[in-house]
Amino acid sequence: MRMRAAVLEQFGQPLEVQEVDLAEPAGREVLVRLEACGVCHTDMYTASGADPSGYAPAVLGHEGAGVVEAVGNEVFSLEPGDHVVTLFSPQCQQCVHCLDDRTNLCLAIREQQNRGYLPDGTTRLSRDGEPLRHFMGTSTFAEYTVMPEIALAKVSPEAPLDRACLFACGLSTGLGAAMFTAEVERGSTCVVYGAGMVGLGAVAGCRLQGAERIVCVDLSEERLALARGQGATDTWVGGEGTVERVLEETGGYGADYTFEATGLVQVMRQAVESARMGWGLCTVTGVAGKGETLDVVPRYLITGRRIAGSSFGGVKGRDQVPELVQRYLDGDIDVDPFVSHKLSLDEVNRGFDLMHDQDGIRSVIDL
Ligand SMILES: NC(=O)c1ccc[n+]([C@@H]2O[C@H](COP(=O)([O-])OP(=O)(O)OC[C@H]3O[C@@H](n4cnc5c(N)ncnc54)[C@H](O)[C@@H]3O)[C@@H](O)[C@H]2O)c1
Ligand SMILES: [Zn+2]
Ligand SMILES: [Zn+2]
Repeated sequence: MRMRAAVLEQFGQPLEVQEVDLAEPAGREVLVRLEACGVCHTDMYTASGADPSGYAPAVLGHEGAGVVEAVGNEVFSLEPGDHVVTLFSPQCQQCVHCLDDRTNLCLAIREQQNRGYLPDGTTRLSRDGEPLRHFMGTSTFAEYTVMPEIALAKVSPEAPLDRACLFACGLSTGLGAAMFTAEVERGSTCVVYGAGMVGLGAVAGCRLQGAERIVCVDLSEERLALARGQGATDTWVGGEGTVERVLEETGGYGADYTFEATGLVQVMRQAVESARMGWGLCTVTGVAGKGETLDVVPRYLITGRRIAGSSFGGVKGRDQVPELVQRYLDGDIDVDPFVSHKLSLDEVNRGFDLMHDQDGIRSVIDL
């Protein structure tokens, strides 16, 4: 079939929206008619050429939601009409990681996915007969996509898809960091650094876990106001001195849980240093720049602080994204404030500009 898609032709250049070809889903693959897709940092990072593992040409986009249109002959868990959220982090439910509660890093299709191919090492995307690569196994800046069954979460049809799409990446990452990676305990004190999509999700996750005090730190007053809406009990403008302030306000000890959602290594360090002596857990979600390293004085670790990294919030996508979407439908998570702009596919580059200018939390493309 022919469809419209936003293609990364050259690093550092705007994406080009154009007609491309999409082949039928084979075997364990699914054709999804996309309805909505959020614009995330990883798309912009790859488009800029800063990501050393990036490749072009490819169809970008990974925060997608849509409706199953057709399934390959070996697909049994989905059928046409099902509402789905795309998963750049799949869940095969069979590999050694999927069978272990300690991680969500499914091993089933990683290698091919990282290189821009479907699990069989080929693409369904093409142009003038030449293969066009997929991105993050999702390629959701497009009217349709073909994806492996194991990379689709079936969600309630009651969830509006222009909200559900945020659970494909940023929102689930933040929620999951608090709920599944850190497993915040009731009554705790938490500090969340960063109030973008991920940090705000972490604030909401801490609230859902029953944290007593949730401090959110950001540089933007506007974003801190959103953090209060998600359950932050204290909001501080960040910078130097934040660690000292956390210590002062916690009897000199630090916070039970800290979260970093900025991508800045100096803030990661603050998050480590403001975690409580004895048992404080610092969860890092931000993606640092190429070659950057996190500087930690080992004494912080010896005296009982721990550091955890969290990819996609530790969320096992097929099992837990539907649960998170249900909590949204139940009124536990307020998703509307995150959707700041609605764009058409032709306006995809404007989504990058808005993100660059920190205008709003998420732009969502209506497909
Ligand atoms: N781990 C994952 O699976 C995963 C998934 C999605 C995104 N990410 C990463 O998470 C990070 C956050 O993503 P986002 O979409 O929320 O980004 P964002 O840019 O919208 O938010 C980052 C926030 O950090 C704030 N900030 C900057 N300097 C600060 C400081 N010194 N102290 C406190 N706050 C400060 C900014 O004002 C901004 O609001 C990015 O690095 C992104 O790449 C990771
Ligand atoms: Zn993302
Ligand atoms: Zn797996």
